[in-house]
Amino acid sequence: MTLVIAMDGPSGSGKSSVSKGVARALGLRYLDTGAMYRAMTWWMLREGVPVEDPAAVAARAAEPVLASGTDPDAPTITVDGVDVSGPIRGSEVTGAVSAVAAVPAVRERLVALQREIIGAGGIVVEGRDIGNVVAPDAQVKIYLTASAEARAQRRNAELTGVTITATQADLARRDRLDSTRKVDPLAQAADAVEVDTTSLGLDEVIEEVLRIARKHL
Ligand code: C5P
Repeated sequence: MTLVIAMDGPSGSGKSSVSKGVARALGLRYLDTGAMYRAMTWWMLREGVPVEDPAAVAARAAEPVLASGTDPDAPTITVDGVDVSGPIRGSEVTGAVSAVAAVPAVRERLVALQREIIGAGGIVVEGRDIGNVVAPDAQVKIYLTASAEARAQRRNAELTGVTITATQADLARRDRLDSTRKVDPLAQAADAVEVDTTSLGLDEVIEEVLRIARKHL
């Protein structure tokens, strides 16, 4: 199956849960490109690379060996053979990832890897620049949005010991960095269908995306 579904949107818009649900329903693979930027960031931090220094990050961007599993029921990400699925969700990586993701050498490398994994298609790909940059020919492009409050509430439910105010501030900071960076900023593709998930349940959003995707099956 050659179908490619590009799923873009800001943090906390529900991209991961929706993408996995759609992939399961249609028997497609699933790729979380955010996990790749997080894994690159995890490696930079472990190596002691000063992540606020774009030149230092660019100089090391070719080194880590990244591998992404594409099973929507058990997505994995390894760096140099080590499964980092857990550590990449920590606050240290979350705090640094947008700076690392803004470095052109990092994006060039990861976009090339993402295109390799997408290959002949049959995949749901979630990220920030999928419809515009990684897979501009994707048959289905979805842009998920939700109010800032709804996004913070959802993200907060996944964390422990963090206040809703802190989560909302972190999302606003990442939104700002991700949508104002020079290279491949977060932006809705001209041909993407916007789905506002603020007042929809997960199953309703999945149904809506399936309805849009089925026109292309
Ligand atoms: O989706 P997630 O929140 O895990 O993504 C983490 C970060 O990775 C984003 O805040 C963004 O800086 C970066 N990212 C990106 N391009 C993508 C996916 C994620 O720049 N396609």
